[in-house]
Amino acid sequence: MLADALRADVRGLAPGERLPSSRALVERHRVSPVTVSRALGLLAAEGLVVTRPGSGAFAAGPPAAAVPEPADHGWQAVALGDRSVDSAGVSWLLTPAPDGVVPLSGGYLHPALQPARALATAAARAARRPDAWEMPPLAGTPGLRAWFARASGPAAAPADVLVTSGGQQSLTTVLRALLPPGAPVLVESPTYPGVLAVARASGLHPVPVPVDRDGVRPDLLAEAFSMSGARAFYCQPAFQNPTGAVLSPERRAQVLDVARAAGAFVIEDDFARYLGIAASPPPPLIAQDGEGRVVHIASLTKATAPSLRVAAVVARGPVAERIRATQLVGEFCPAGPLQETLLELVGSPGWPRHLRAVRAALRSRRDATLSAFARELPELRVDRPSGGFHLWIRLPDGVDDTAVAEAALRAGVLVSAGRPFFPAEAAAPHLRVSYGAAASEQELAEGVRRLAGVLRS
Ligand SMILES: Cc1ncc(COP(=O)(O)O)c(C=O)c1O
Repeated sequence: MLADALRADVRGLAPGERLPSSRALVERHRVSPVTVSRALGLLAAEGLVVTRPGSGAFAAGPPAAAVPEPADHGWQAVALGDRSVDSAGVSWLLTPAPDGVVPLSGGYLHPALQPARALATAAARAARRPDAWEMPPLAGTPGLRAWFARASGPAAAPADVLVTSGGQQSLTTVLRALLPPGAPVLVESPTYPGVLAVARASGLHPVPVPVDRDGVRPDLLAEAFSMSGARAFYCQPAFQNPTGAVLSPERRAQVLDVARAAGAFVIEDDFARYLGIAASPPPPLIAQDGEGRVVHIASLTKATAPSLRVAAVVARGPVAERIRATQLVGEFCPAGPLQETLLELVGSPGWPRHLRAVRAALRSRRDATLSAFARELPELRVDRPSGGFHLWIRLPDGVDDTAVAEAALRAGVLVSAGRPFFPAEAAAPHLRVSYGAAASEQELAEGVRRLAGVLRS
């Protein structure tokens, strides 16, 4: 790494002595000017160099003497008490695969599938606005609210939209707004571990309701409502993570009826709307709800890039005010330049083209991964999802999915054990295999080959 080399060079210089020019560093290390400027920025942040525009970079004075003894932080254990926040549910999802390991896990598209150039253009335009760094309207910029309202269907108006800082933040805000600590919340089982982590960190009790190929089972949903007294049900009606299930047309109406009978909200996490492999995904559940029962979360990071942390919550009636107030108290509002960047992106002529390209890539990646399974592990039955980028794979009874995932990592392929996707006991051992994060179809096939080696042994 260039920064390491420069760090060593700086140690040999006297304070105030000049480093070679950026151009000389570019030539000497055969790297780009951006790499040089990033490395110098890092060293400046570490206090090792001082950069002076127009004159270059200079070795800084000697570092301040290090603190001699490690500090005693024991008092904090007492002050913090017996509460803890378990981030395991999300941290493993976000950890990149080590070098040389094929990522068949991961919740975001490989960088080659992300609209990096369009985002750079959109961000540059957003940052050039004269009011870019002013406080934006607290519920979100009007253009973005209008865009999200239109995307949510006829039941939503721009005034119903609250722009938020991403899907995960929306989950936190909505759960906190709707439910007091200690309350039950019904969730699909299996489900996204990130929602379990948020619910638990907010003091809620996730109650599982089984999902099959057509989505959540309404008969068991009704039973869970009556047993738990829950006032909210969290679900992903389109391309559910991890199963890929799409809530069937008959069940959509039944879910709303069951929630109505229980006097409960339905929290619709519409995280994968643009990842349909068929051209048009089913309309969001909120489009079918005229009574403010569905609180809809629309997030775009899955179809764009993980750092574009802007999403929306669409809610009607008094709950909208509660959600707005919860966000305002917690974080004021999402960053204005990011909101403008998203609006620029979705309004650009390249946006529909990007979505088509993502769909096409996901279709061929899905098919390549399924073919690799059929070739390498014909004994496993793997469903063909119609969207998203996960395969939910049933392992034979008695197999320890956590041990398989650990062994797979040692064999050079990262897959997700099914266990953390279940709010309580797992129905059966599973693996989640993702086809969005790998570099290529060849890499996907190689990952499945490595996984097959582990499963056969
Ligand atoms: C089902 C589901 N909801 C929400 C999120 C949160 O994503 P983001 O905060 O990037 O929108 C994820 C991320 O993996 C997810 O899988």
